[in-house]
Amino acid sequence: MKGIILAGGTGTRLFPSTIACSKQMLSVYDKPMIYYPLSVLMLSGIREILVIVTERDIELFRSLLGDGAKLGISIEYAIQDKPRGLADAFIVGADFIGLDSVCLILGDNIFYGDNFTKRLSKIAKDIQGGVIFGYHVTNPNEFGVVEFDKNGKAVSIEEKPIIAKSNYAIPGLYYYDNNVVEIAKSIKPSGRGELEITSIHSEYLKQGKLQVEIFGRGTVWLDTGNHKDMLDAAIFVEAIQTRQGLYVACLEEIAYRKKYIDKKRLIELGESLKSTEYGKYILSISDDNFFEGE
Ligand code: DAU
Repeated sequence: MKGIILAGGTGTRLFPSTIACSKQMLSVYDKPMIYYPLSVLMLSGIREILVIVTERDIELFRSLLGDGAKLGISIEYAIQDKPRGLADAFIVGADFIGLDSVCLILGDNIFYGDNFTKRLSKIAKDIQGGVIFGYHVTNPNEFGVVEFDKNGKAVSIEEKPIIAKSNYAIPGLYYYDNNVVEIAKSIKPSGRGELEITSIHSEYLKQGKLQVEIFGRGTVWLDTGNHKDMLDAAIFVEAIQTRQGLYVACLEEIAYRKKYIDKKRLIELGESLKSTEYGKYILSISDDNFFEGE
């Protein structure tokens, strides 16, 4: 399975912070926002990743993440010249996807939870159709919304409805088989002129090939849509890291634990950042006595 991080867009809701640079480059507590979605793909076991960005920001991303080799993964970049909608990711990324299945994650979505990795790895290993998630929120009308029948079967998907048919928002993490490329090419822009991800899901639903899994209370999903969301996310990450002494989205740690890099490389990466708590944490991981439990 291949992975795509959609990290373009104009970031207008975060102006003036995003007038000159990509939203996904902004810091969420102690690391750039894009580390969070990248960590999810790496935890899913996905090592071939395409980052879709604007022309303006491509060099920023390259200088931050490079070709991924230092983390034992492969990162390529593609430009989306206009924010044509989330489903455009499969058109921009068609050559990269080739004949593979694909996971799309939005560059501004943050996930954290117990058992999360195992669950995602399982989905990534064997996908037929599409797998999306439902997450109970108080403000569903700000998101894609999935409606269930009384047996828990998904019956409708709507993008930002005025009156939501359920409290289940659809987070920006989606897994599909290869048909998604053809489906993306066949859908038409919505009333607001975007190729909606919801249109992809409605098509899979119509074909009886959409699976909607619930992220329950043990999973945290945070969106970084505005300045308050950014602050809430930063406070959450700080609280977890300080309380547990375990980091959220430390890419070097994930690469080491997934055996994408060896201990020597881990120490080199930690040394290069050792003036920060983040770098010291990386070095502490390389200590044989460090035992996380899982
Ligand atoms: O966060 C989850 C929600 O994300 C879903 O529930 C919605 O169904 C989905 O449409 C999306 O809604 P948003 O209003 O959050 O989408 P937004 O336009 O803010 O874009 C999300 C990210 O994708 C953002 O980091 C910018 C990037 N993006 C967006 C578009 C439309 C692109 O890179 N290119 C694009 O064309």
